[in-house]
Amino acid sequence: MSISEILNKVGPSTSSETFTHEEIKLLLAAEGDDKKLLFDKALQTKLAHLDNYVHLRGLIEYSNICTKYCLYCGVRCKNLKVERYTLSDEEVIECAKLAHELGYGSVALQSGERSDKAFVDKITNLVKEIKKIDNGSLGVTLSLGEQTEETYRRWFEAGAHRYLLRIEASNEDLYYKIHPHDAKHDFKQRLSCIDSLLKIGYQTGTGVMVGLPFQTLDDLADDLLFFKQKDVAMVGMGPFIPHPDTPLWQYRDQIPSAEERMELTLKMIAILRLMMPEINMVAATANQTVDPQGREKAILAGANVIMPNLTPNEFRENYLIYPDKACVKDKPDECHSCLDVRLAAIGHKVLYNAWGDSVAFTRKNAPK
Ligand code: 5AD
Ligand code: FES
Repeated sequence: MSISEILNKVGPSTSSETFTHEEIKLLLAAEGDDKKLLFDKALQTKLAHLDNYVHLRGLIEYSNICTKYCLYCGVRCKNLKVERYTLSDEEVIECAKLAHELGYGSVALQSGERSDKAFVDKITNLVKEIKKIDNGSLGVTLSLGEQTEETYRRWFEAGAHRYLLRIEASNEDLYYKIHPHDAKHDFKQRLSCIDSLLKIGYQTGTGVMVGLPFQTLDDLADDLLFFKQKDVAMVGMGPFIPHPDTPLWQYRDQIPSAEERMELTLKMIAILRLMMPEINMVAATANQTVDPQGREKAILAGANVIMPNLTPNEFRENYLIYPDKACVKDKPDECHSCLDVRLAAIGHKVLYNAWGDSVAFTRKNAPK
């Protein structure tokens, strides 16, 4: 089957149609004119379903204190070089107010993983405080790792309505090559967290890193089928970036080049846009780290969300999940004007002062 025959399987009127594992693999390997066909169709599909709008989530990196030691992550608790911090309540609220003033419409609160009672209570309170700003006008996304269903429910009741928890790798064997195999890093637990989030009613986001050591095209094809099968509302995918103070650094010579990881990420975004035309997909900051034009390229491949960093600058360099993270030195308002210009240059525009909910989610939950 040719690439154009595969691409012709999906169209606006057949959005529930999906690709097979083998077809996805062929699309991931597309080069030259075939690759161009894929990217063209993905962009057209996005524009037809979601227009040329980009939604913003002001990212607040609340704390780099983490109880886990994932093998890829620069802020793993076993990395003793990291100076640990937690923002004060006032700092978090200031960031959220800034997001509101800048017209971002939503904030995303992200942190290293903790599940002790003090942390859970603190987050509950912070969500309530953020929701008080201008009578609940800010959307609240949480990205705070694995928690009990009860905790997820408390935060949902406090006003959070979106939650990001990347599966990181949907193949259990690969999962355990990039995480320790122990009770704290349990694949089944992660799956059950995603199921809890979906059940509670969050707009649930998941995703993977692309270009991991030991990852194959079969794994990537299965990742996309996993997102489709779970029918998630949001997906985030970005290139893996080896961090020198992590165990996976030793495999840095055995992974695809930065250019190849970027290219594969873009193909993943494009294929998923065809499979799930109405979900929210983020142009991850990791894209911009491996390629200065990376975020724009991700938007053109089918992404429709950007998460500008609002963390106070003095803390940002301590939240280096991976090295050379983009925008670490930029001031929030600089990012702001820079984004408008960059997006206009590629025919897109920010939709200000809106939550920017996932159209897929809204449609699924509309009263019948
Ligand atoms: N390279 C790229 N992405 C990473 N993440 C964590 N470490 C790295 C890395 N070294 C991603 C994970 C996580 C998200 C917050 O950042 O997918 O879910
Ligand atoms: Fe940070 Fe452009 S997005 S400077």
